[in-house]
Amino acid sequence: MAKGISIVKRLQRLRGSPHLRNLLSTVDFNRSQLIQPLFAVESVKADEPIPGLRGTFRQNLESTLKQIEKDLENGVTQFILFNVPAGKKKRDFDHAFSTRMIQSIRKRFGSDLYLWVDACLCSLTESGHCCVYHSDSARQDLETTLNEISSLALSYIEAGADAISPSDMQDGRVAAIREKLDGAGKDLAPIMSYSTKFASHFYGPFRNAADSAPQFGDRNEYQIDVRNRDDALGSSDRCAEEGADLLMVKPGMSSIDLIREIHTRTGLAVGAYQVSGEYAALDVLEEKGLLKFEPALLETWSVFKRAGAQYVITYGARYAKKLGI
Ligand code: PBG
Repeated sequence: MAKGISIVKRLQRLRGSPHLRNLLSTVDFNRSQLIQPLFAVESVKADEPIPGLRGTFRQNLESTLKQIEKDLENGVTQFILFNVPAGKKKRDFDHAFSTRMIQSIRKRFGSDLYLWVDACLCSLTESGHCCVYHSDSARQDLETTLNEISSLALSYIEAGADAISPSDMQDGRVAAIREKLDGAGKDLAPIMSYSTKFASHFYGPFRNAADSAPQFGDRNEYQIDVRNRDDALGSSDRCAEEGADLLMVKPGMSSIDLIREIHTRTGLAVGAYQVSGEYAALDVLEEKGLLKFEPALLETWSVFKRAGAQYVITYGARYAKKLGI
């Protein structure tokens, strides 16, 4: 800068040193605020990589247990489990594979970890949808859907899950799960609701992993339209009213504007799900030589925290220790 010029707002003064940048960071988080997804798949023999989801595999029971052991060594303590049983049905879903998984995890690791279990139907239904349909038509059968979801939730908790995470976006599911759990004396089991969940094109890698792609149509009839801010806020309000303990926005990146507002409206902690397509985008960009995966991942987590996310669900949680978190 030329001598004699005086700039009042010389903002670079505070950006020039890593010590000052650390001093002034308003984002503070550690790896206990990251939740690692796991895909337990009944039909797989050996670990199957999931295209785009670096470090994440479709795994059978034994392999999932080994994975958790490694993750615990890497400081991961929070997991969200997606169960993918072999058989698909229209209704009367079989809980056996999922409960066996949960029991085995609990038996092996006790309270070393906190286990959230996703309670959606889309990995169980022939249709690949998150709901049951009336047998005579393509109309959603809400009553049966809520019964199925809440009885899954109770089975999971009875098998040893710590908490339930409904991702189906069916009206009334949080209330139905709460009532079912409370009725069985499980009133201390928390519900982390996928409360603001948009219909999104960024769930692609997940649907391959969870065998949950819709066989007809899409999920627009139950997930939120990205253009509708009122619905986005109202959906989280409604989950809070129905007794959800934690709220969540999803996909995380495209909900960044909503996180703090939902927290202010409800007073509940709000997390962000960095969904499969968002995570895979980093992987693909690195593959094309366009960025470095790990620092970019850290950048995204910092942005979620800055936006007010209390916790982040991310496929990269198992890299956190390596990244110094
Ligand atoms: C199941 C479910 C989905 C995700 C979490 N639970 C897919 C969907 O709604 O289609 C997406 C997670 C991701 O993309 O990482 N309903």
